[in-house]
Amino acid sequence: MSANDDGAARLAEHALRLVENGQVLGLGTGRAATAFVRALATRVHAGLQVAGVSTSEATAQLAQQLGIRLVTLAEHPTLDLAVDGADEVDPRGDLIKGYGGALLREKIVATAARRFVVLVGREKLVPVLGSRGRLPVEVLPFGAALCRDRLARLGLRPVMRTRGESPETTDNGNWILDCGLAPIADPPGLDLAIRNIPGVVATGLFLGMAPTVLVEDGGRVEVRSGREGRAS
Ligand code: A5P
Repeated sequence: MSANDDGAARLAEHALRLVENGQVLGLGTGRAATAFVRALATRVHAGLQVAGVSTSEATAQLAQQLGIRLVTLAEHPTLDLAVDGADEVDPRGDLIKGYGGALLREKIVATAARRFVVLVGREKLVPVLGSRGRLPVEVLPFGAALCRDRLARLGLRPVMRTRGESPETTDNGNWILDCGLAPIADPPGLDLAIRNIPGVVATGLFLGMAPTVLVEDGGRVEVRSGREGRAS
């Protein structure tokens, strides 16, 4: 994305074209998702009727401040569209997410959506997942030491994400181990191996979701089509 927020705003405007009156939307977390929420609010003030399910407390707070009606997944287990950013996107449309710490709710919301739209700058495109060298893994605090040990045995280099002196707590009351790694040869295999560790709540690997990826590059937005109208 452009160094300033113009790129995020451009992506958000493009994503808005996919939104229809009456829809229930998944609202992501991070810079690109925030730009989308702000752009959406402008449309809501102009009369668009939508509701949102937020992927984080931060986005929920912003949406509320801006007058976007929030609902829950219990009320709307299937969402029309989820819009979020990503940290890495490979040529298949598989992703790494969670640098912003909201990976668990982001994965739930993306899975609940008929269509998943990802907003990224060109710098997030990678030939192979893991190219940026970090995979966030959300763990239950009770099992964090075991998770750390087992992640290391998988050849990863887990580091506790901290805020000041303490582990940073997610919106779900969990902790995040940021795993240093090389480009991943077998993402589904690694994902399974990590999820098999008791205490792991979610990995930042978003695989097989076939998102529509909007890529901003030097003022232009390119659409990389995923699987539209996914089965719910
Ligand atoms: C939040 O947990 C992340 O998955 C974000 O969606 C991701 O980090 C992208 O954020 P930016 O749009 O801020 O780069």
